[in-house]
Amino acid sequence: MHLSPFKLERFFAKYEFKAPYLLCTSDCESLSFEELINLDKSYYERIKKFSLGYVNTDGQEELKKEIAGLYTSIGPENIIVTNGAEEAIYLFMNVALNKGDHIIVQYPFYQSLGEIAKHLGANISFWEIEKRDRWELNISYLRENIRDETEVIVMNMPHNPTGYITDKKIFSEITDIARERNILLINDEVYRGLEFNSEDRLPNICDSYDNGVSIGGLSKAYGLAGLRIGWIASQNKNIINEINHYKDFTTICNSGISELLAIFALRHRDYLLRRSLGIINENIKILNDFFTRFSGIFGYFQPKGGTVAFPELKTGQDIEEFCIDLVNKTGVLLLPGNYYDYDNRHFRIGFGRRNMPEALNVFENYIKTII
Ligand SMILES: Cc1ncc(COP(=O)(O)O)c(C=O)c1O
Repeated sequence: MHLSPFKLERFFAKYEFKAPYLLCTSDCESLSFEELINLDKSYYERIKKFSLGYVNTDGQEELKKEIAGLYTSIGPENIIVTNGAEEAIYLFMNVALNKGDHIIVQYPFYQSLGEIAKHLGANISFWEIEKRDRWELNISYLRENIRDETEVIVMNMPHNPTGYITDKKIFSEITDIARERNILLINDEVYRGLEFNSEDRLPNICDSYDNGVSIGGLSKAYGLAGLRIGWIASQNKNIINEINHYKDFTTICNSGISELLAIFALRHRDYLLRRSLGIINENIKILNDFFTRFSGIFGYFQPKGGTVAFPELKTGQDIEEFCIDLVNKTGVLLLPGNYYDYDNRHFRIGFGRRNMPEALNVFENYIKTII
């Protein structure tokens, strides 16, 4: 089966570098190269001398050590560094799934978390987060839908597009269910570190369960999407070894200089996360206020973390038509929920960028013209 087009990416390809107000992006404000290398005076000298050859397929040892520092049960040997989290997802699905396998995916999902499985001929169950429960996951659904051939359960928390994070008790129940059946449990954790209340931060899945697989990366919480550095971490050495072999056929290795910059970034991870949290904490107040003032038009739950929320347009207008009219008239880009194969009322709004208040202001002026 062919891979279907990545709808969200195709939508972005049309507008991302044209629309002046990107009000639906999921990354945090990017750092400049200068900001990053100025974090320590030795960095520029290291970059100047760095050899621009191939690096290790699984990532340079120094980088894997920095990444391992994010976890409690993971060593460098349990990590493969990838070209963005996107490659990590692609590699994982390809080594974990065969035709006829079954996979349960938290829904709505970032398309690659389900699409690659479909392409591989796996059967997918859509584990829908319940809007009436403020986007909570339904454990009964999980119990009832596990089959003998279920190989993988997929979560993404903090979640794109709702910003939802499950309750810790439910998280631990999910882990227990996967453990009882020895099922691979993957959590896409690229927004981890961006919880509004640090108490909501979940344990890394790779630390919680020996068949847990954490997907991480620098694109979102660390504001370094252009480095294209992601990773996969698991105590399950078979999965890690197989992914390493598979990577020889995708990218062979990552950009060495990006890996060097990633090493610098992770040495200052607390600073970078504080920087991103500073931006989203400011922006979320403005966003909450906006949705309170326009509660007649929009339904909205404040996200618990991450950089995006998934409000509903209550006027009955088709969401894609609404978003296209908005971007054409004002240059403000929102992402219609149908790009998640969800419905034609919800849309994704992002608050990770510094110009969010300005973009929201332009959006507000548009809203006032239609009510
Ligand atoms: C949940 C999720 N996983 C993975 C990715 C891909 O991240 P990267 O840019 O590191 O490839 C994204 C990007 O939007 C995402 O939202």
